[in-house]
Amino acid sequence: MFESVPLEPFTPLPVAICPVMANISDIEKVKNDISTYNLDTEEAVEAFRLTYLSRKGIITELLAGIGKAEPQDRARLGKELNALKQLAKTRFDEAKAALSAGKTADITATDDPTLPPPPFPAGSTHPLSQTLEEIKNIFYRLGFTIADGPEMEDDFHNFTALNFPPEHPARDMQDTFFIRKDEEDPSRDLVLRTHTSPVQIRLMKEQKPPVRAIMPGRVYRNESITAKSYCLFHQVEGLYVDKNVNLADLKHTLITFAGHLFGKNLKYRIRPSFFPFTEPSLEMDIWWETGNRPGQWMEILGAGMVHPNVLKSVDIDPEVWTGFAFGMGVERITMSRYEIDDIRLLYDNDVRFLNQFP
Ligand code: PHE
Repeated sequence: MFESVPLEPFTPLPVAICPVMANISDIEKVKNDISTYNLDTEEAVEAFRLTYLSRKGIITELLAGIGKAEPQDRARLGKELNALKQLAKTRFDEAKAALSAGKTADITATDDPTLPPPPFPAGSTHPLSQTLEEIKNIFYRLGFTIADGPEMEDDFHNFTALNFPPEHPARDMQDTFFIRKDEEDPSRDLVLRTHTSPVQIRLMKEQKPPVRAIMPGRVYRNESITAKSYCLFHQVEGLYVDKNVNLADLKHTLITFAGHLFGKNLKYRIRPSFFPFTEPSLEMDIWWETGNRPGQWMEILGAGMVHPNVLKSVDIDPEVWTGFAFGMGVERITMSRYEIDDIRLLYDNDVRFLNQFP
C-alpha cells in the first residue's frame, strides 16, 4: 500500500528542463515521481493522469523536446521516454483497477471463508396471514374446501345476484369503488368487490350442491381511512348448500369455529341482523377482554340462511336445497387477538411492527 500524503497541487514542470531534455537524470527524477506518486483516491488518479498522461502532460512535453536534443542522443531519449510513458500508463491502469475492485469487493480480502455467515434478517409471517391460516385450518377440519374469485366484479355478481334491490345504498358511490359506471345501464357496472359474497355466486354457478366451501380474499370499500377502517380489508366467506341445512347447523358451525379460534372460555352472542342475501340473518359477537382493557362485545361476522332469490339466480331450486352463508372480517379478528388498535399498522409494512409477530 502507498503511504497516504496530501495531494500536491499540480505545478507545471519548469520550462527550462523541457526543450533541453538531454539529461538522463531529469528523466530519472520524473520516473521516480511516477513510481512513488500516491494513487489512493479517485482524485489523485485523475491528477496523476493530467500531470503525466494528458496531451499537455509532462511526458508529451518531454517527447516534443526530443527534436531539440543532440542527434546522437535522440534514439536513446526516445526509448527512455517511451518506457516512462509505459510506466505511467501501467501505474494509472493498476490504480484504477484497484480502486474499482476495492469498491465492490472490499470485504473479500479480510473474509475468513470458514466463518459462519453474518445473521440474515429473517422475515416473519404477516399477522393477517397468520390469522387467515388459522381460520382456513379450522374450516378445513370442518370439511370445507377453499374457493376464490376475482377482485374486480361486475354488478351481477357483487349485487344483483345477491338480491340487492336496485336502489340499495351499498350500490352507492359512497361505499363502492367503481371501475366502470354506466348511468344508463347499471348492469354494465364494474366494481372492486365490496365483499366476498360474489364468490358464492360464482361457486354455485360452477358447482351444483352439495357445496361446502370457504372463500377468503380481499375486498374494497370507499370509506375514509381511520384507525378503524381502511379502503381494503380481508374477508372469509363461507357457504354450505345441501338438503335440509338449517339454522341449527349454522349456529353449530359458527360456535365450533369461534371456540377453536378464541379458546374454550369463549363468551359469544348471536343477534338478529339483516343482509339482502340471507333470510333470516344474524351477527355473532364475542366478549373480548384482554390485558387491562374493560371487556366489550365485538362483532366478528355476519351470517344467515341463503335467501331463496340467491339460489334462484344461479338456477338452484330453493324447494329442494337450502343453505347457510357467513362472512367474517380478518382484520377485526386479528386486531382483537393481538391487541392492535390501529388498522393502518397492518398495511404500513413497518418492520418494527412486523417483527413483533415472529
Ligand atoms: N357480505 C357480508 C358483509 O360484507 C357478510 C355476510 C356474508 C353476511 C354472508 C351474511 C352472509 O358484511
